[in-house]
Amino acid sequence: MNILVIGSGGREHALAWKLAQSKNADKVYAAPGNGGTALEGGKIENVPIKEMDFSALLHFAEDKKIGLTVVGPEVPLAAGIVDVFQKQGFRIFGPSKAAAQLEASKIFCKEILRKGNIPTAIHRTFSDGYDAANYLKQGEYIPSVVKADGLAAGKGVFVCRTREEALDAVRIITEEKEFGDAGDRLLIEEMLDGEEASVLAITDGSTILTLQPAQDHKAAFDGDKGPNTGGMGAYCPAPVVDTKTLHWIEERVLVPTVHALNQNGTPFKGVLYAGLMITRQGPKVLEYNVRFGDPECQPLMMRLKTDLVDICNAAIDGQLSKIGSLEWDDRTAVCVVMAGEGYPGKYAKGFPIQGLEEAAEVPKTKVFHAGTLLDVNGRILTSGGRVLGVTGLGETVSEAKTAAYSAVKHIRWNGSWYRKDISDKALR
Ligand code: AMP
Ligand code: GLY
Repeated sequence: MNILVIGSGGREHALAWKLAQSKNADKVYAAPGNGGTALEGGKIENVPIKEMDFSALLHFAEDKKIGLTVVGPEVPLAAGIVDVFQKQGFRIFGPSKAAAQLEASKIFCKEILRKGNIPTAIHRTFSDGYDAANYLKQGEYIPSVVKADGLAAGKGVFVCRTREEALDAVRIITEEKEFGDAGDRLLIEEMLDGEEASVLAITDGSTILTLQPAQDHKAAFDGDKGPNTGGMGAYCPAPVVDTKTLHWIEERVLVPTVHALNQNGTPFKGVLYAGLMITRQGPKVLEYNVRFGDPECQPLMMRLKTDLVDICNAAIDGQLSKIGSLEWDDRTAVCVVMAGEGYPGKYAKGFPIQGLEEAAEVPKTKVFHAGTLLDVNGRILTSGGRVLGVTGLGETVSEAKTAAYSAVKHIRWNGSWYRKDISDKALR
């Protein structure tokens, strides 16, 4: 079968790499893919079509008789790519536009959480900056989190320790309109304390296959300091979610979410990604995403042994129960993101990357590309803020970390940098 992967990040490189390992995969096209998918060769090939160009993607799917499409990022999902493909008779893995609201509207998400009686931060919603500011000015200020309702490329969330910070956040969202329509409504919620974890599951709307827990590193610098990023590294499994906690999350979070979405008339198929805070009172949902996490996907795909094509097809057909349980490599996987100078702010790009061949020789590692491209001279150049996700496997967290960083040491470009403490929380 010919497969189409939509997106261009590290997550999509990992998905294409994993899908290509399936006995059922003839060709895996990455649209538009990146330098990493371009270098893979074999079954994997890039197609220069952007993720939001639905009509060109449909034409391509027709032309190449694509039997399975897998969507990486949230933006095409929220714009209804699954509905568009299904209408034309194509098999596509992911939620409908209506179900993708779970990520595209934080207020919709809270409504589903309420219906499912699922633990989350106490919150208020506002459609007016004036009301939000008044609310913040009343009584004693308690640290809170101000969030734009819609998609804001991970930038619409402000964790505010002071009232001034919170009022600033409200102004940025509602007056400066930094996130456009995504800020038409907003949420103010209590700040939760604890360790974060990502628990992802695949669902066909009735059966849920929970993946191994992972942990992202959202802050830019070591010790979780500095600005928020898309994620500077991840590892899997994450011991902060032990077996008992994982079962609890399945029963009290994932199952009721799938039920609530069904009852709401927005049944969900695809990847349900619960962003959780493991608080003293137990896990609480910070947010839902409707796709694989980036970079969580990279360590997850390093460890997943079950055929991903079979999983996606079973989910599309409502036959996930036939997959049984998922098989995993027992080892730990650690992914270290290498970024360009200036990221997560403005960054320069177009720098040639050195040392990729040496890094590829390091045993038990895989370099997933994110913001890279293959130029006409065969050089790999940086083309984004998060550039590579260097992923290592090991019998212990510490061995996996050593493997990943041994490969990282070989790679450099003008301005390259990375966190040095990825996975250290698992060692504590
Ligand atoms: P979200 O997009 O809602 O997951 O928020 C992005 C990040 O903001 C999360 O990964 C957390 O680090 C932080 N965050 C969001 N909501 C809260 C909260 N209620 N309490 C503490 N931190 C939060
Ligand atoms: N790693 C966070 C995300 O994918 O949203």
